[in-house]
Amino acid sequence: MTRWLDLLAHTRELAPHDRDSVRLANLATAAQTAAAQGRLGRHRRLDGLALIAAVHKLALTPLAADEGALLTWRALADDARRVAATFASSSGTDAWVEAFQGADAARKSRGAYATPRALGAPMARLLLQGAPLPRRIVDPAAGAGGLLVAVLHELRRIDRDPDRLREHAYRLHGVELDPVARELCCMLIWLAAAGSGARLGSIAARVGVDNAITRDWWADDAYDALVMNPPWDSLRHGPAAAGGGELEHEATVARLTREQPGDPDLPALFSAQGRGDRNLYKAFAELAPHLVRPQGRLVVLLPGAWSSDLGTQQLRRRYLAQLDVKRWTSFENRYGHFPIDGRYKFGILTAIRDRAGTGTLPIRAFAADASELRRAHVRVSAAELLRLGGPAEIIPDLTSRAEAQLMLRYERHGTPLFDPDGVLGRVVYDREVDLTEDRKRGRFERLERLDAAPLGNGRWQGADGRTLVPLVEGRMVGPYEFHQKSWVAGSGRTAQWTYANGHRLRDCRPQFLVAPADERRQRIAICDVTSATNTRTVLATWVPPEWPCGNTAPVLVFEDERRALAALAILNSMVFDWLARRVVAGLHLNRFYLEALRWPTLGAADVDALAAAGAALQRFSPRYADLDAPAIELASPPLDYVDAHTLVEATVAAGYRLAAPALETVLDPTTTDRRGFWRHFASDPHARTIAERAVARLDPARAAVPISGRRARARRITSARAGAAAGPPTAA
Ligand SMILES: C[S@@+](CC[C@H](N)C(=O)[O-])C[C@H]1O[C@@H](n2cnc3c(N)ncnc32)[C@H](O)[C@@H]1O
Repeated sequence: MTRWLDLLAHTRELAPHDRDSVRLANLATAAQTAAAQGRLGRHRRLDGLALIAAVHKLALTPLAADEGALLTWRALADDARRVAATFASSSGTDAWVEAFQGADAARKSRGAYATPRALGAPMARLLLQGAPLPRRIVDPAAGAGGLLVAVLHELRRIDRDPDRLREHAYRLHGVELDPVARELCCMLIWLAAAGSGARLGSIAARVGVDNAITRDWWADDAYDALVMNPPWDSLRHGPAAAGGGELEHEATVARLTREQPGDPDLPALFSAQGRGDRNLYKAFAELAPHLVRPQGRLVVLLPGAWSSDLGTQQLRRRYLAQLDVKRWTSFENRYGHFPIDGRYKFGILTAIRDRAGTGTLPIRAFAADASELRRAHVRVSAAELLRLGGPAEIIPDLTSRAEAQLMLRYERHGTPLFDPDGVLGRVVYDREVDLTEDRKRGRFERLERLDAAPLGNGRWQGADGRTLVPLVEGRMVGPYEFHQKSWVAGSGRTAQWTYANGHRLRDCRPQFLVAPADERRQRIAICDVTSATNTRTVLATWVPPEWPCGNTAPVLVFEDERRALAALAILNSMVFDWLARRVVAGLHLNRFYLEALRWPTLGAADVDALAAAGAALQRFSPRYADLDAPAIELASPPLDYVDAHTLVEATVAAGYRLAAPALETVLDPTTTDRRGFWRHFASDPHARTIAERAVARLDPARAAVPISGRRARARRITSARAGAAAGPPTAA
């Protein structure tokens, strides 16, 4: 089978400049497709000479190609005809665009990842729901036309009158920075409008080459509808080797640093970009509402970070104020819609520009298949959203109304982590050592560079007699484990680590050694690198006081040991983790996620009990036992592993006023729940027993039922049951 890439072998001979050879491959394929449609004269197949003429006719700007090499044109004509035949189906267009973008070395910096038909078609459907049909529809990052062509197909599906197809094709408007992609976009719209008499030139007059961020859109009327999947890349990495080149990169960055009026009824443009990385998608997200008229419709595909990052908080707030958001469907890229990691999250937002804003937001999270765009969404009021999203106003990934109710219960009966009047007193978040900056300052060194020997008690001795200690990194932090993993080789993201398991401290190797800290603080380290779909999301440990912690293991500092140990027990509980797994959307347990979490409501006796259980569980660590001067002063009661965990889970659950049925929901082992604890149940042989006993502790009548047998029931738990009050917290 001839592939589009094979065409490049010919076109490179005819047009040595890389982008011209790519254009020629597209033009040749389009020409043969158009010929087969009967749109280029009598002949349904073009030979070498006819292909030269057709290519020049279709080219939107002059193309430099060697017209003398007729043999090569002939071979190109034959191959292009075969490729055109394989691309003749609608899904073939996806393959064409993917081949075109895949051959582009600058694809990543351009952010050129076309929307596949599987997503484009339902997005088009969402855009065109309701009457009347929008007169002018715009895609401000049109690319090779993935979305505009999908809209045209949908217009054709809605209105089967062939006489109106040209009118529909002329509804489509767009802007694209890359002239090669824009040329393909225009040709694909033109090919999709076969039989309508639509002219390529008229389509090209509506889809132009331009920088959507710097463009003066306001010389023209606002559009009736907008569809978009903007580039997702960061502007941090310097000028793209992309079509726009260095000047456009600089012009884009410069534009984003100026706030200037856009639509007169909306705040100045690029005034909601937030701090942190400049991302193109954020710029497009802010631009989009400015481009549509009041009551105009928008369907936009955005990286998941739009709903959950601190840097997008203002954008979210603006969207909810300027638009009536009809739905936010958040996807994991598990079905490979885009050629990037399967864990990558993106979402599709459907909205109407309406100054009344969003009263109720329908949310559906963890979608994988495009059909889920049409399935039921969880309706959350604007007031509930503010309660669920914490200070950063995150839009949580919800999968059911019962889940939202349960989150609201946690919120109602908990206190913010950093509330100084909370039951655990003042809590300070700290990053003790910056792994990048402090390394440059020589504050710590790689173990392999030092001729140091372990003393087996948590300290190392350098060749010069210096005492050194491990620098704690996120990888080393596990539940009640400050050396969960031992460094093997490599550095950075490719560093290899191995589980320390039963190893003694003497056998564990950190990646870095550092001078011991002399300040004694009551702190708990957490692993910063995480995910809501890992076995567990929050991993916390007590750390030897003299071991400093790197920024991948930020610490929470408490006023005294008792509260630090109680917090340790809470942070490592499944009940607390359930909430964290619904709040954490990215791959880091950032401070703003912690700010959206809550401590349970506890009495003094509960804090004592949790602290004692936390101390006992920390002492189970074989590494802790090796420390010379174990620094936990609090005595621990004679609790075994299961009893200590059971006490913690039940106490924390009661602190959030969860009744036994709600706790069953929290501990549901169903494997279809992406954020369920089933991985934890599979990895810790005691976890299921702990879960069952914790439920039985809240309600002894449920003691006889194994947790898996409760599954069906747990799924039926309604919001009303989830909301039923539990008795007062019980301290052991
Ligand atoms: C993710 S692709 C989407 C393409 C198309 N809308 C689709 O859905 O298939 C984003 C496109 O935006 C283009 N782009 C990047 N920066 C741009 C800018 N400043 N102005 C206009 N287009 C831009 C890229 O070249 C790329 O083709």
